[in-house]
Amino acid sequence: MEITITSNYDEMSRVSAQIIAQEIQRKHDLVLGLATGDTPIGTYKELVKIHKEEGLDFSKVKSFNLDEYLGLAPLHKNSYNYFMWENLVKHININPENVYIPQGKIKDPEQFCTWYEAQIKKVGGIDLQILGIGADGHIAFNEPGSSFASRTRIKALYKQTIEDNARFFDKMENVPRFAITMGIGTILEAKKILLIANGKKKADVCAKFIEGPVTSQLTATALQLHSYVNIVLDKDAASKLKRTEYYNWVRDNKHLIQKEVGR
Ligand code: GLP
Repeated sequence: MEITITSNYDEMSRVSAQIIAQEIQRKHDLVLGLATGDTPIGTYKELVKIHKEEGLDFSKVKSFNLDEYLGLAPLHKNSYNYFMWENLVKHININPENVYIPQGKIKDPEQFCTWYEAQIKKVGGIDLQILGIGADGHIAFNEPGSSFASRTRIKALYKQTIEDNARFFDKMENVPRFAITMGIGTILEAKKILLIANGKKKADVCAKFIEGPVTSQLTATALQLHSYVNIVLDKDAASKLKRTEYYNWVRDNKHLIQKEVGR
């Protein structure tokens, strides 16, 4: 896992958008895994800026979102479908037919989950998966106890997640209790992963998932089992890490590897 500690939210957003843009420039038909939440809003703004100012081309990109609330139609203001449209899709030149987001209001959700997994396979898998992290350590909606082998499925939301989500809904009764989410197994099959986190409220969970033991009780620790993970944090989210000095040294001294090889 490569860890980059940035000075604030804006820098975290710029650095993560640059990583995504480079991957799209490298592979024009990139399959991008997308996340929702407050954390990636700045990253998406930066991507829109790179698209508008530097012509970053999304015309061949395909995207797959991690999750959606069960029961919310795409036009519901709190749905992740609506979020993606407002924060990214409508501002770039991605073909809407290539935008895959789980559907929350669907007759047969289980059949949908199987179909969604099949679509990911059909395009050759996800090249770069973007992730945020929940306060209980979840990635997507893989709540504590989710199997590391899990695939796209319906998941009951944890109490902490329901409380965190309550801020977006008028009444507690309206906060969804279930979601459709990619599984940990689905996420671990992405070729590359980029996790972003910011703010003091994420400091504990970031220290645990980066430096703590691997456990399904904190599902982001599954990322320790992946061979290519970029983690971009702001300094508040990184404030409880123990090996910061090492992470910074590695980031600043990568060029020395070439020098060593030529010795
Ligand atoms: C939800 C989403 C996650 C996201 C998390 C954190 O639970 N399912 O994908 O990472 O929220 O959200 P925020 O970025 O608002 O802290």
